[in-house]
Amino acid sequence: MYKLIRPILFKFNPEFIHKMTMKVLHFLEPLSFLRGINRFFFRKDHPALEREYFGLKFRNPIGLAAGMDKNGEVYNMMSDLGFGFVEIGSLTPKPQHGNPKPRLFRLTQDKALLSRMGLNNKGVRHAIENLRTRRPEIIVAANIARNSSSNEEQVPKDYDTAFSLLYDLVDMFVVNISFPTAGRPTDLQDVSFLSEIMDGLLDRRATMEEHKPVFIKLSPDIPDIQLDAILDYALRNGVEGIVAGNATSSREGLSTSEERLNSLGKGGICGAPLYEKSLRMVRYIHDKTRGKLPIIGCGGISNAAQAREMLDAGASLIEVYTGFIYEGPGFVERLLKGLDPPKEKKEKKKGKKSPEPALPPAEEPLPQDNTATQENA
Ligand SMILES: Cc1cc2nc3c(=O)[nH]c(=O)nc-3n(C[C@H](O)[C@H](O)[C@H](O)COP(=O)(O)O)c2cc1C
Repeated sequence: MYKLIRPILFKFNPEFIHKMTMKVLHFLEPLSFLRGINRFFFRKDHPALEREYFGLKFRNPIGLAAGMDKNGEVYNMMSDLGFGFVEIGSLTPKPQHGNPKPRLFRLTQDKALLSRMGLNNKGVRHAIENLRTRRPEIIVAANIARNSSSNEEQVPKDYDTAFSLLYDLVDMFVVNISFPTAGRPTDLQDVSFLSEIMDGLLDRRATMEEHKPVFIKLSPDIPDIQLDAILDYALRNGVEGIVAGNATSSREGLSTSEERLNSLGKGGICGAPLYEKSLRMVRYIHDKTRGKLPIIGCGGISNAAQAREMLDAGASLIEVYTGFIYEGPGFVERLLKGLDPPKEKKEKKKGKKSPEPALPPAEEPLPQDNTATQENA
């Protein structure tokens, strides 16, 4: 069905379509009969798909990556479409317009997007209002970032403000220090600057009644030496894990012509061409930390085999964005089918013994000090 509609949608400006889709979904969200329909067609629950990490029980390991539900407007609907968790944001303390338009482009030959949105969002306070209608069973992660207008001294305060205001309303946090077009990402990923931000957040968390997991989202372009320093910081300081990762600045291996790429200008590439880079990063982090640091694998996942491969490479959970745009609302269900939970019901009907589950059962949550090994979670 989506394959029929997609050519029409793709005739329009991608940001316009995104905005319209968000509006329609937000409008439709309260309709409970629609929720039932979505769940019936798209949601695929099975005990073998469940995961348990850091005290949170995920219905399945596939989440929606940051950037689609920037303002926390459609996470309920996204959960009905099958996602095991939803990352909202990036949210900055103050609302911001982002970069001048046009700033989002489809590279259809590559099943990719080029984005220089510049972290446009309506600000943390707006998202807080939207989070009040959250259904408790939905796992929501808040991706937080700095305001582009903030100077270097204000940056840690920006993160702290967003973190503190959202703390009671979400289940986990992703600290975005890797956006390619807003601010100076190389500086933020420098561990001395990063630790200024993170120390404040971890101290703040220590004052809170409930412990909530904190992840750091990195760029797949980060040099290994810088990555090693961050992994070391994360392991030593009780950061729960890494989101690997964000868009890439690299134009390598694209089928889109150089002429067109030059005409579009700067931006991060998301989608299929990113996959090998993110997979490499997940493997690297998993090997380097000997599985002690949970990873959310994100970048270019376009089919079930890749979802499986990313999990096998050491990701505890995975996230998708561009694949969902290209494949439509049935995408998550197709990915989950590929993870192949045992078909107990069918087997029982036939009176046969259930096969061994293809997936490992949900694992014990990692202790908060990250000292236990989490091999290939
Ligand atoms: C239009 C667009 C907007 C995005 N906005 C954000 C954002 O605000 N914060 C963030 O951390 N990542 C953002 N991302 C990056 C995605 O979360 C994800 O890391 C990236 O797209 C790679 O995954 P994918 O290949 O499945 O799309 C954005 C991506 C796109 C395409």
